[in-house]
Amino acid sequence: MKTTTENRPDTAPDSPAAPVPMTGNLPPRVPHVFDLEYRAAMHRMLDTRSPADWIGVHQFLGFPRDREAGAQFLTRRLSAAPDPERVVLSHSTQAILTVLCTSLVGQGGVLAVETLTYPTMGRFAKQLGMNLVGVEMDGEGIIPGSFQRVCQTRKPRALYTLPTLQNPTTALMGLERRQEITAIARQYGVAILEDDIYALLPPDLPPPLAELAPEITYYMLGTAKSIGAGLKAAYVVTPAKTDPKRLFWPGSGMTYWMIAPANAGVATDLIHNDGADRIICATREETRARQQMVSQTLKGADFTTSPECLHVWLKVPGGKTVPEFVADCRRRGAEVGPADTFLLAGGVAPDRIRFGTGKARTRADLQRGLDAIAGAYFS
Ligand SMILES: Cc1ncc(COP(=O)(O)O)c(C=O)c1O
Repeated sequence: MKTTTENRPDTAPDSPAAPVPMTGNLPPRVPHVFDLEYRAAMHRMLDTRSPADWIGVHQFLGFPRDREAGAQFLTRRLSAAPDPERVVLSHSTQAILTVLCTSLVGQGGVLAVETLTYPTMGRFAKQLGMNLVGVEMDGEGIIPGSFQRVCQTRKPRALYTLPTLQNPTTALMGLERRQEITAIARQYGVAILEDDIYALLPPDLPPPLAELAPEITYYMLGTAKSIGAGLKAAYVVTPAKTDPKRLFWPGSGMTYWMIAPANAGVATDLIHNDGADRIICATREETRARQQMVSQTLKGADFTTSPECLHVWLKVPGGKTVPEFVADCRRRGAEVGPADTFLLAGGVAPDRIRFGTGKARTRADLQRGLDAIAGAYFS
């Protein structure tokens, strides 16, 4: 297989000759904080728990102490810690999504999604035999009238949504919009799969949909976009205490989604010792610094983002097609993603590209990528 910036191991340094990898939207690395915190958590875990007791057995829904820590972690977004019986630990948001979609939507079922959304949902839809239907968006994400029409005409079983710093559009749903969307979902009996993965970096966000409609919302809070993509720890809060057993274990009859015990232990230690918060804080600072570089380098360009967002949604300048612009960026030294990558349920992709600020290893690498994009934009 040819090595590209997408599949190159993340341990490889960015080569000055290769385009800067900006198609993904990983959080920036913060080794000055992360290494210290992660090593300390791992050491404490090995010193205080008998590995045979936790590595030698299945995690099932998560050990009670890890589910309790998860419930605490969720208070970064929820106003009160949920009952740990409603919390499941998994190794990824992706795995949680496949379990939920299999049961709640199923083969031949309809899943509503934002017209532009996380591309992996398209792959899951294919694999699981789900039909995706797109809901129109504006600057606040899902448009209530469009969602209502979709509910009436296509009868979706669930809605997958990213209300906070939507991927790829960066849209942020305000409180009133959140209330409207949850009211419609309730009215039509549509389950909400809320992916709040980008919500740990920005301060002062509106409450999750799960706060407004906890009885129909499956709330997912993964750590991949705030602590580290390789931590492999994600939490889901289900509407009822009976859901974890029904949907995950033993209900699903599968174990592929279970978190590895060591990862659960490290995540729990990071939560208890505030290491998680210190890493998130450092990631937030680095993200803000990188966003300043974006503002300076692309001053005057038409794009949306926000200071704690990991990606930028840039309008392709007039006179160029999106493929031409993407190719020009690449020629000048930056890999960026065209809008149609995110178009999963038909329609027309806007003339935009998305790029991430976090995968470039250093600020100097990021600057090289931004200069390439600016060169393509302003030429
Ligand atoms: C919106 C969204 N959700 C989930 C994920 C993946 O999270 P995880 O690694 O926990 O499956 C991504 C990663 O790109 C994402 O963009």
